[in-house]
Amino acid sequence: MKPHGRLILFTFLHGILLLCMNAPLESATLPSCNTFGNETDRLALLDLKKRITQDPLHVMSSWNDSLHFCNLVGVTCNRCTKRVVILKLTAQKLAGSLRKSIGNLSHLTGIDLVSNSFAGEIPQEIGRLGSLRSLNLSRNSFGGKIPSNISHCAQLRVLRLVSNELMDPFRTNSVHW
Ligand SMILES: *[C@@H]1O[C@H](CO)[C@@H](O)[C@H](O)[C@H]1NC(C)=O
Ligand SMILES: *[C@@H]1O[C@H](CO)[C@@H](O)[C@H](O)[C@H]1NC(C)=O
Ligand SMILES: *[C@@H]1O[C@H](CO)[C@@H](O)[C@H](O)[C@H]1NC(C)=O
Ligand SMILES: *[C@@H]1O[C@H](CO)[C@@H](O)[C@H](O)[C@H]1NC(C)=O
Ligand SMILES: *[C@@H]1O[C@H](CO)[C@@H](O)[C@H](O)[C@H]1NC(C)=O
Repeated sequence: MKPHGRLILFTFLHGILLLCMNAPLESATLPSCNTFGNETDRLALLDLKKRITQDPLHVMSSWNDSLHFCNLVGVTCNRCTKRVVILKLTAQKLAGSLRKSIGNLSHLTGIDLVSNSFAGEIPQEIGRLGSLRSLNLSRNSFGGKIPSNISHCAQLRVLRLVSNELMDPFRTNSVHW
């Protein structure tokens, strides 16, 4: 075979190989990919925004309906399912509280609100986050008890709560964790 012919054969085979590789990939990902995301997540994020009382850096002003919720500052979605998987608003000078709507973001794997001024109790609904691996709420003003339902977060590997006003779970007085 002449070198020219070999090149054509190679290009031909390469094309078939690419086709074969693409075909199962596309049929596996395309039908299950969600374009719009889940309304539950959108409503939960809007509810979280409502509980923010101070936002001097105007982080939350970008949380409006002109952007898909997956593109909001601090929000990361799974690329295919468009479910919210990470909420990360580190050191944004935010004050406010978390409400039970956090438990509706049921696909969350990580929450990082380190170094803000969140206060109030950590809601029991955190226990509904069955995929949560990391909950990092250090350096805020969370108070009350650590929610007992956190024990339902079977995937939880990292729990950071230092520098809050939480009650010592083994005593009843308030401590600085
Ligand atoms: C949205 O999410 C909720 C809770 O995870 C689920 O029950 C519901 O089926 C989802 N809706 C769609 C359209 O995927
Ligand atoms: C959270 O989900 C529950 C149903 O599971 C619903 O009744 C409630 O309205 C949701 N909260 C928000 C803020 O979307
Ligand atoms: C919504 O957020 C985007 C992105 O930050 C911003 O450009 C736009 O002005 C905002 N719209 C409103 C109505 O606040
Ligand atoms: C807390 O967990 C208990 C089961 O141990 C459950 O019945 C209850 O609904 C959970 N509370 C919340 C607010 O999710
Ligand atoms: C919070 O903890 C997670 C998990 O260990 C880590 O990836 C993240 O960097 C921490 N956040 C800060 C601000 O230290």
